Amino acid sequence: MTKKVMDYKQPSLKGTLTVPGDKSISHRSIMFGAIAEGTTTVSGFLLGEDCLSTIDCFKKLGVDIQVDGTNVTVNSKGIDAWEEPKEVLYTGNSGTTTRLMMGLLSGTNLHTVMTGDASIGKRPMRRVADPLRQMGAKIAGRENGQYTPLAIQGTQLEAMDYTMPVASAQVKSAILLAGLRANGTTIVREKEVSRDHTERMLRQFGAKVDVVDGVVSFEGGQKLTATHVNVPGDISSAAFFLVAGAIAPKSEIVLENVGVNETRAGIIDVLQQMGANLEVKSDGEAAEPTATLTIRTSQLQATTIEGALIPTLIDEVPILALLATQANGKTIIRDAEELKVKETDRITAVVDELKKLGANIEATDDGMIIEGPTRLHGGKLRTYGDHRIGMMAAVAALITDGAVEIDDAECIAVSYPTFFEHVDAVLK
Ligand code: S3P
Repeated sequence: MTKKVMDYKQPSLKGTLTVPGDKSISHRSIMFGAIAEGTTTVSGFLLGEDCLSTIDCFKKLGVDIQVDGTNVTVNSKGIDAWEEPKEVLYTGNSGTTTRLMMGLLSGTNLHTVMTGDASIGKRPMRRVADPLRQMGAKIAGRENGQYTPLAIQGTQLEAMDYTMPVASAQVKSAILLAGLRANGTTIVREKEVSRDHTERMLRQFGAKVDVVDGVVSFEGGQKLTATHVNVPGDISSAAFFLVAGAIAPKSEIVLENVGVNETRAGIIDVLQQMGANLEVKSDGEAAEPTATLTIRTSQLQATTIEGALIPTLIDEVPILALLATQANGKTIIRDAEELKVKETDRITAVVDELKKLGANIEATDDGMIIEGPTRLHGGKLRTYGDHRIGMMAAVAALITDGAVEIDDAECIAVSYPTFFEHVDAVLK
């Protein structure tokens, strides 16, 4: 763990950035490329540690993957040709890798063992293991499959009709990927719609997926056809610069080629609700819609963030909490208990760390309440090894009176390895 002291002295921020590729889409591009027979090419791939963990797992399954900068080539003989790995599959800090691979591996004829870092070892896996078991999957792990290491004995699966108890794209995607190998039609019912990158990419690889009113239906046994995947910039990474540009004095930041899929873009709604000076210029829609986002400093009003909006911005709550410290009035974030099972408990982490900077913020059972505006001061913050807490602290440092120190700057490489270069590029 490397400490980092950030003493930015309240700069203006100006410039144009292209944020790195979307983490969710990058993971899926490797997985889908590995399922399909033939050569899949990927551009704009995120070279973050989480996505590199996914590549590493598929290499251990015998898939040929070549990385050349942000271009990746996946040469696969198809899912039936995956080899039984002699080693444990190591998923690092990545919940998406762990959970989606549980779904995928359950329907192969392979025995695999998967484990990750200390954070992964504390994250609930029965939310995936239990529905997969209903499809016939054989999954063993600590506390009856709740925690890694997990052992999976692949087997023939049967389709099922599943109503999601929580809004989670990882759970939905694991079931759909298992459904690819199952007999019959797999149905997943969502009360609140979670990100739909899996459904979109299944179509991009030639599969047929129906989605009507939050009900996803997917016939098993479909073949995927290798293709090209162009990964847009990650709105969850852009979020840090959207907030920085909104709260730093006299700032203007342009973010190009940002993915604005409506199941992910809740932060745009919230910024608009709060009165931010944000321009959204659509760049069109391929497999995923993209836009150029321009943010300028403005006066902000408090808001309430709740209900169906939460899954569309779940990873942005830490940075939105910082934003709320600069808005007039009381911001309420509720219906967000899922934050407790992210890379760390993000309700506790955000509240405890922002308090150290003088924020008026309290935790609730399912979110937090923030009263603003508050002039923040410096302090020594913990990241809890969580990339998004580390970046929240760094953006806070841009507006504090005095320096902010974080205990672990390296964790940010999980999703945004060039983050500090991008901060330096917009400092004026
Ligand atoms: C992701 C889904 C979300 C999100 C995570 C990535 C995905 O998790 O928080 O960063 O790629 O499907 P949940 O499915 O647990 O909500």
